[in-house]
Amino acid sequence: MANWVTGKIIETRFWTETLFSLTLNAPIKPFIAGQYAKLALDIEGERIQRAYSYVNSPDDDRLEFYFVIVPEGRLSPKLAALKPGDSLQITEDAAGFFILDEIPECKTLWMLSTGTAIGPFLSILQQGKNLDRFEHIVLVHAVRYSSDLSYLPLMEQLQQSYAGKLKIITVVSREKTGSSLMGRIPALIENGNLETAAGLSISPSDSHVMLCGNPEMVRDTRDILQSTREMKKHLRRKPGHISSEQYW
Ligand SMILES: Cc1cc2nc3c(=O)[nH]c(=O)nc-3n(C[C@H](O)[C@H](O)[C@H](O)COP(=O)(O)OP(=O)(O)OC[C@H]3O[C@@H](n4cnc5c(N)ncnc54)[C@H](O)[C@@H]3O)c2cc1C
Ligand SMILES: NC(=O)c1ccc[n+]([C@@H]2O[C@H](COP(=O)([O-])OP(=O)(O)OC[C@H]3O[C@@H](n4cnc5c(N)ncnc54)[C@H](OP(=O)(O)O)[C@@H]3O)[C@@H](O)[C@H]2O)c1
Repeated sequence: MANWVTGKIIETRFWTETLFSLTLNAPIKPFIAGQYAKLALDIEGERIQRAYSYVNSPDDDRLEFYFVIVPEGRLSPKLAALKPGDSLQITEDAAGFFILDEIPECKTLWMLSTGTAIGPFLSILQQGKNLDRFEHIVLVHAVRYSSDLSYLPLMEQLQQSYAGKLKIITVVSREKTGSSLMGRIPALIENGNLETAAGLSISPSDSHVMLCGNPEMVRDTRDILQSTREMKKHLRRKPGHISSEQYW
């Protein structure tokens, strides 16, 4: 049984009509960057709970989450209506194994995300702990429109602070822009454009790929990596090169 504590909203920020972030205070137990909490609201006598990844560093007590309003969704439209001072329920303990401790030794760590699933990577990179063992980190955020790149300023700031170790790449699927790759992650791996943009290769000899977000992106990317790069799913009992977290 989940142990629920009350969180108080301290800030709401709408990036677009459908993308928003909430910042809250809550007496949670420490979490590990990359993990998620469950957030809940009591709606018509029923507690509606869903998983959401922490965006903030575990060292920051302002808890931040990044959401998209799922049309007809039961919880996300209600979370979007919250205002500063409102409360919600949050699990005291975080969950999940999409964390650096689960990633084997490698030279290049690829962090590939769609939509709101940039969150766990921002938490990991903002904390900046245990990243010395990687020579290169490539953070990729794939969205429909460039206006969905809500955290681009933070990504740019992180790129600067990592002084050459971190490369950021944005991918936009539904419009052409000068500053982002156009298309979808699996196709951009297949045609080599993602690696060209990063100036690094994705290879089982020196890379590990973390995939987060849209389950179809996770599946299609894993298929491409398995068939064209001979990379394998990473399991604790059978080490490989691909770790993933699906959002639905
Ligand atoms: C480990 C984990 C971490 C997650 N972290 C986040 C997060 O940081 N931010 C976030 O916005 N969501 C996140 N999600 C998704 C979130 O838990 C909910 O599924 C989402 O908010 C929809 O809930 P809802 O009640 O509004 O919709 P529901 O009433 O549950 O119905 C939504 C239906 O829409 C689909 N759906 C669910 N999520 C999405 C989505 N993001 N995009 C498109 N379709 C979707 C599914 O098919 C689902 O059946 C995460 C999920 C998991 C498993
Ligand atoms: N983002 C918006 O502007 C917007 C607006 C209104 C409502 N919504 C709703 O919000 C929910 C989530 O939308 P979202 O835009 O955050 O996430 P999303 O639909 O998962 O799209 C994010 C990115 O993932 C890509 N993608 C989808 N399937 C893929 C696959 N199989 N392989 C590789 N990449 C793939 C998309 O490309 P494609 O564009 O090619 O699919 C897009 O670039 C949806 O229910 C949507 O209806 C979003």
